[in-house]
Amino acid sequence: MCGIVAYIGNKPAQPLLIEGLKRLEYRGYDSAGIAILDETTGSLDVCKSVGRVAALEDKLEEAPLTGSVGMGHTRWATHGSVTDINAHPHTDDTGTICIIHNGIIENYASLRTLLEEKGHTFTSETDTEVLANLIAELHDPDADMDLESAVQAALREVTGAYAIAVMSSHEPGVLVCARKGSPLIVGVGSGEYIVASDGSAIIAHTAQAITLDDYSVIRLTRDGFRTATIDNVALTPKVMQLELDLSQIELGAYEHFMRKEIFEQPKVLRTCMKGRLDRHEGKIVLGGLMSFAKELVKSKRVILGAQGTALHAAMIGEYLLEDLAKIPAECEYASEFRYRNPIIEEGTVFVSVSQSGETIDTLSALHEAKDRGALTLGVVNVVGSTISRETDAGVYLRVGPEIGVASTKAFIGQVCVLTMVSLFMARRRLMSPEASARIIAELETVPDLMEQVLEQDEHIKEVTAKHIDRENWLFLGRGYNYPTALEGALKLKEISYIHAEGMPAAEMKHGPIALIDEGMPVVFIANKGPQYDKVLSNISEVKSRGGHVIAVATEGDTEIRSLADDVLEVPEVSDMLSPMLTVVPLQLMAYHAAVLRGHDVDKPRNLAKSVTVE
Ligand code: M6R
Repeated sequence: MCGIVAYIGNKPAQPLLIEGLKRLEYRGYDSAGIAILDETTGSLDVCKSVGRVAALEDKLEEAPLTGSVGMGHTRWATHGSVTDINAHPHTDDTGTICIIHNGIIENYASLRTLLEEKGHTFTSETDTEVLANLIAELHDPDADMDLESAVQAALREVTGAYAIAVMSSHEPGVLVCARKGSPLIVGVGSGEYIVASDGSAIIAHTAQAITLDDYSVIRLTRDGFRTATIDNVALTPKVMQLELDLSQIELGAYEHFMRKEIFEQPKVLRTCMKGRLDRHEGKIVLGGLMSFAKELVKSKRVILGAQGTALHAAMIGEYLLEDLAKIPAECEYASEFRYRNPIIEEGTVFVSVSQSGETIDTLSALHEAKDRGALTLGVVNVVGSTISRETDAGVYLRVGPEIGVASTKAFIGQVCVLTMVSLFMARRRLMSPEASARIIAELETVPDLMEQVLEQDEHIKEVTAKHIDRENWLFLGRGYNYPTALEGALKLKEISYIHAEGMPAAEMKHGPIALIDEGMPVVFIANKGPQYDKVLSNISEVKSRGGHVIAVATEGDTEIRSLADDVLEVPEVSDMLSPMLTVVPLQLMAYHAAVLRGHDVDKPRNLAKSVTVE
């Protein structure tokens, strides 16, 4: 939700923090701030601003901060409205302790009352300011309570999620960071450390990073570091190499990350499949599943849990698992699974699908499934993320960092991985090598076919422009393309702020048909699949009520041209693989609608890339 970055080293901290915040801005962007400890004067200076990092930069131009220990934050508001005062960093009421925080301190209200009783005063409405004062209350360098010990003691009192960085004017060359439930990694440079919510703020400086488990605290100085739990049990640090390069997180020639990521899809799909398909043997090679292959073959039921776009991909996974591997499968909102006392029998596999690997609803559902005895798999993009670490086994998407808040290439990666997982299980259960080889051969053609869809970008833009003033859209599909319809509606609403609903095409006549009036845009996913004729009937029902039909149809389909007002063609492919093609025109429609309406495509209002609050 929020992005945090902190630095300790010998370089001026301000430019480094600002650069880091710009990289992390996709995580939250309603306000930003930095704090720097000037070790020569001992002063701890804070600068904050509502709005984007650029607004903060403007403020800093007038009054730059000096020093080489500091922290920065880009916020997605949870507690308290979007104001300069509520923006991070926060200090305690004496201005000694300074903190940035991503997550939610759930018991902040009772802690605040307790601290008020002890005489502390508060200026903001945030949970973070409570934590700053709690640390200050415990911090006493003269009584063996240094900053690290005070942070550990404070964190033993809090419930909730946190990734924090803390500094104290009493201990100038020290930075203390900790995490539970929210992401945080520590880049290791030469005589310097850069702490951040993700590798994008680190990679320009170093590729070596320390990952932290929940309840870990790290104390950093220019001379080294020490890791321990919040109970002060020493930990052995885990060091990883960041697999990122700068071009992956920069716009290049593109105007927006969303557009870049849509156009990257054929390439990342090839990377996702590389080395994993053995067409000659009709086999799928997924190293991350091998140690649990036997359990997967014997499994009796699969439950997929996810949110948002990942949920739509998981819904396609549900169909694939039943069609190919013949395993009963069901997909649901992770947030609902978590709280409905689910029954997990022996032989149940729980699959968490997530781009970030940090979505709290998805993570909590995973914990629930694990506690109830399920074998857990992760279908995750971000390497080393919490879900990837906490699942028994898994398959990475390998689509590279997704910066646009609207998820596009991750969806393609998720559908592709779920296709491969289904084939992996199918082939080991009942599918013949020949049948599997046929599907693999077709899967290999999808990136090239997707390139043909992308060539229609201009036409898709023209069709979108015709309806740009309409405030209500419907997206309808059946079978494998029912989740695609949901995804088309989600994309449109989240970046263009147009109201859109997706549903199974058959459901329309059970109520939503009442919405259709003259010229209402209704997008049908009408590829030549097993339910094509039924979709044509639904199209006629919309036409006869004055709706304007935009059909995503199979190339060369002449019949649909006599019914639909506009046709967006996709090459012919089997129904089970079609969502990877039919979704592309819908992504581009949403993109063009947002641009035509003048919205910030990559940072839509009220949203954040990774949703780490329930
Ligand atoms: O990181 P995750 O895949 O777990 O995120 C799940 C959803 O929050 C995410 O897909 C969200 O719906 C996107 N904004 C969709 O574009």
